[in-house]
Amino acid sequence: MRIAIPKEIHTGERRVAATPQTVIRLKRMGLDVAVQSGAGEAAGFSDAEYAEAGAVVAAAVREVWEGADLVLKVRPPEEHAELGVHEADLLRVGAVLVGFIWPSQHKSLLDRLAARRVTTLAMDCVPRISRAQTMDALSAMANIAGYRAIVEAAAHFGRFFGGQITAAGKVEPAKVLVIGAGVAGLSAVGTARGLGAVVRAFDPRPATRDQVRSLGAEFLEVHVKEEGEGTGGYAKTMSDAFLQAEMALFSAQAMEVDIIVTTALVPGKAAPRLITAGMVESMRPGSVIVDLAAEQGGNCALTQPGGIVVHKGVTIIGYTDLPSRMPSLASQMFGSTAAALVEAVLKDGTVRIDLKDEVVRGALATHEGQVTWPAPAPSVPPPPPEPGVAAEVRAASGAASRGHAGAAASGSGGMLWLAAAGAGLIGLGAVAPASFMSHFTVFVLACFVGWQVVWNVKPALHTPLMSVTNAVSGIILIGGMLQLGGAPASATVILGALAVFIATVNIAGGFLVTGRMLAMFRR
Ligand code: NAI
Repeated sequence: MRIAIPKEIHTGERRVAATPQTVIRLKRMGLDVAVQSGAGEAAGFSDAEYAEAGAVVAAAVREVWEGADLVLKVRPPEEHAELGVHEADLLRVGAVLVGFIWPSQHKSLLDRLAARRVTTLAMDCVPRISRAQTMDALSAMANIAGYRAIVEAAAHFGRFFGGQITAAGKVEPAKVLVIGAGVAGLSAVGTARGLGAVVRAFDPRPATRDQVRSLGAEFLEVHVKEEGEGTGGYAKTMSDAFLQAEMALFSAQAMEVDIIVTTALVPGKAAPRLITAGMVESMRPGSVIVDLAAEQGGNCALTQPGGIVVHKGVTIIGYTDLPSRMPSLASQMFGSTAAALVEAVLKDGTVRIDLKDEVVRGALATHEGQVTWPAPAPSVPPPPPEPGVAAEVRAASGAASRGHAGAAASGSGGMLWLAAAGAGLIGLGAVAPASFMSHFTVFVLACFVGWQVVWNVKPALHTPLMSVTNAVSGIILIGGMLQLGGAPASATVILGALAVFIATVNIAGGFLVTGRMLAMFRR
């Protein structure tokens, strides 16, 4: 299968959908990779580096697009001025397209792609769930944007971020307010703290409180009780009363802080207007506002999307291409999330769309001639009942089942099994030697406990469970080793050797998995 990486043509776009490093990863999946000559130039990757990584570098744009089974792109297809043709029409009929699509803003593009029977996987629609973290290009870009927002603010701010006491005098630390503590907001908080600023943050989702505090910032709150938690890790639209309350908080903060970074957004909605012209005017001259939500209309009333305005001495930055201003890192991160998505849909060397896979279905925008966006809302499992309620439910269902002959039969089935097992044990005890019975009882109990431990543990806890089974394996290992001293090739020695082997695999595997888990948390 041939995968192509064309050069991005959107004005000002410096990113590229694959780097030499991610090309190596794509090649390892068994794909032929073609890169348009100059595609990585703006991000600092030369044609020679792509060729060295195993890609075919092609100069002709049409050759790159038309020969591809799968096209990897950062920006949605657009009119190719040089060729006088829309990029969507350069795709082979039935090809696969992976990249940012923003379907809600590009409905006619979806129709165009569906008409060409293109299978479109929109990277911006990958659901934000733990399993899809490696494919979450949006979070990767937001992380970069949050960092870059602080770098831009620092470049326009006339003072240090950190406080200093020098021979030339005392310098107060800069005060930074971050509105919206999602991915970009938290990244901005961490970066500003790293530079030594005093940082405050606000977000309607209570889950962000601890995240903000763990980065050493203060979490601001309003006295209107309303939780902002929506679905899929995103916020919900807040009530007018809440917005009024937070705006009152921001107008007090505006007079105090030097820098405001706004990232407040509910996906699919216009950005809430939180910083008014009056608040901007109340800030000290020399202050800076970076409005990350500029593209969705801006959180600040004076933001000019894509540009910078200076209003009464306050600089308002409305760049909409912050990740593209760090093109090499952004391309690397985009490339690896895109490669992870490609890997997820690749089966036996071709793309197979599994509509039951929540991640794939979420990202699927067009397929088999149909527009498949938006994906149906995932069915949310009902919350587990509280322990007291559960007991009541069980008691009630128990009482109800007593009235039903069939249910009573199934309830007494378990009792029958227990009685049969008890009778069997007593019968065995009558004939077997006492030493056998003590070992046998331990064996039966171990099976029971082992079964309960493994089957009743939630999948999320399987890793800590592995540590427990690792410890158990250690005991088995010692037991097995003690048996190895018997007569060669006897059943005891063979079973002992088998126990040593299996326990060793379990222990070594446990260490490997634990090592990988720990590596995920290391910075
Ligand atoms: P996110 O969804 O993770 O974070 C948004 C946060 O805003 C959420 O924590 C949410 O609770 C909060 N929020 C929603 N309504 C609010 C309100 N009324 N008041 C205060 N907070 C509120 O989104 P992410 O990925 O962090 O992106 C944040 C923004 O940055 C988005 O607007 C995104 O489009 C933008 N962005 C901009 C880039 C640029 O170059 N300018 C690049 C990447 C992202």
